[in-house]
Amino acid sequence: MKAFLCRKFGPINSHTVDEVDNLVPGDNEVVVDVHAAGVAFPDVLVVQGLYQIKPEFPFSPGGEFAGVISSTGSKVKMWNEGDRVIGFKGSGGFAEQAICNAYNIMPLPETMDYIIGSIFPLNYGTSIHAFKQRADLKEGESVLIMGAAGGLGLTAIHVAKAMGAKVIAAASSNEKLELCQSQGADETILYSRNNMNRDSQKEFSNKIKAATQGQGVDVIFDPVGGAYCEPALRAIAWKGRYLVIGFTSSIPSIPLNLALLKGCQIIGVFWGNFCLKEPLVNADNFKALFKMFENDQIKPFVVETYPLEKTAHAIELLANREALGKIAIKIRD
Ligand SMILES: NC(=O)c1ccc[n+]([C@@H]2O[C@H](COP(=O)([O-])OP(=O)(O)OC[C@H]3O[C@@H](n4cnc5c(N)ncnc54)[C@H](OP(=O)(O)O)[C@@H]3O)[C@@H](O)[C@H]2O)c1
Repeated sequence: MKAFLCRKFGPINSHTVDEVDNLVPGDNEVVVDVHAAGVAFPDVLVVQGLYQIKPEFPFSPGGEFAGVISSTGSKVKMWNEGDRVIGFKGSGGFAEQAICNAYNIMPLPETMDYIIGSIFPLNYGTSIHAFKQRADLKEGESVLIMGAAGGLGLTAIHVAKAMGAKVIAAASSNEKLELCQSQGADETILYSRNNMNRDSQKEFSNKIKAATQGQGVDVIFDPVGGAYCEPALRAIAWKGRYLVIGFTSSIPSIPLNLALLKGCQIIGVFWGNFCLKEPLVNADNFKALFKMFENDQIKPFVVETYPLEKTAHAIELLANREALGKIAIKIRD
C-alpha cells in the first residue's frame, strides 16, 4: 500500500509517499481502508518533531480519517469487515490503510460521506468539549473565536451557533472573514497578520469591546495564542471564560493580574486526553454532534481536497497560514 511517510523529523517537504507492506491487525485492532483523511495543524508540528506526541518511525501523520474496515483482530467483537467508520488517533491517516485500536473508531453515519467523516472527529470533538464541559456556554452568551477561518475555528463557529451563542469571528484577512460569515458568524473582526504591535493589540481589544457594547465577551476560543492572546483577554467580560486551545502563532505569556481584575477563568482544553480520561462523556458529545448534523444544525464542509501525493503541499498550506477553511486528503472514492 501507499503511505505518506515520516522516516525522521524534518521539513514538511522532505517527507514523501512510499510503497510499504500492507497492515495486519493485532488482537484488539482493526485495519481500515482509508478513503479520506483530514489535515490539521498537529500534522504541521508532528512531522517536524515539534508536537507533544512523537510517534515511532516510520509513521504517517493524519490523526483523523474515514474508511471501511478491511480486517479485524481475533479479540475484536464489536466491529466487522465492511463497517464504515471514522478513525481518530494521533497519526496514521495519510495512507491507503490505517491500523486502529478498536476503541479509536466510531460508526460513520449513513448520511455522512467519507470526506466529511474524515474531518469530523478532531475539530468538532474539541469544539463541543471546549464549549460544553470547559466553558459551560449558555444560550445567548457571546463567543469570540480567533483564527476563526481555520479548520478548528470554523467548527467552533458551527458548534457555538448550534448552542445558541452570538459568535464574533476574528481572523487576519477579509477573505477569511467572508468565509466565517458564510458559516454563520454574527460579527467579524479583522486583526493584523504580521505586525501585532501595541497599537494593533489595543485596536483588537477595542473592536472586541465594541462588538459587545462595551461589556466584554463571555467566552474566548483561542487556537492562536501569541500576541493575540493578551488583547483578547483584556476584552473579556466579568466572569468570562478564556479557552486555551492551541498556539499556531506562539505560546504567549500573560500578566496573571488580568484574571483577577476580570474575575475570569483561564481554562485549558485538551481533547485527546479528555477522550482517554472521559470516554463516556466524549461518546455523549458525539451523539449530540451527530444529532446536530442530522438536524442540519451543523453543516461541516471541506474547502479543498488533495490526492495522497500532494499531502506535503496540503500540510504546508497550514504551516504558511495560507489555508482557507478545512483541507482533506482524498485517498480513494
Ligand atoms: N486543545 C485541543 O484539544 C486541540 C484540538 C485540535 C486542535 N488544536 C490546536 O488548534 C490549533 C488550530 O488547529 P487547526 O487545525 O484549526 O489549524 P489551521 O486550520 O491551520 O487554523 C489555524 C489558524 O491559526 C491562525 N494563525 C495565526 N498565526 C499563525 C501562524 N503563525 N501560522 C499558521 N496559522 C496561524 C490562522 O488564522 P489567521 O491567519 O486568521 O490568524 C489559521 O487559520 C492548533 O494549534 C492545533 O494544535 C488543539
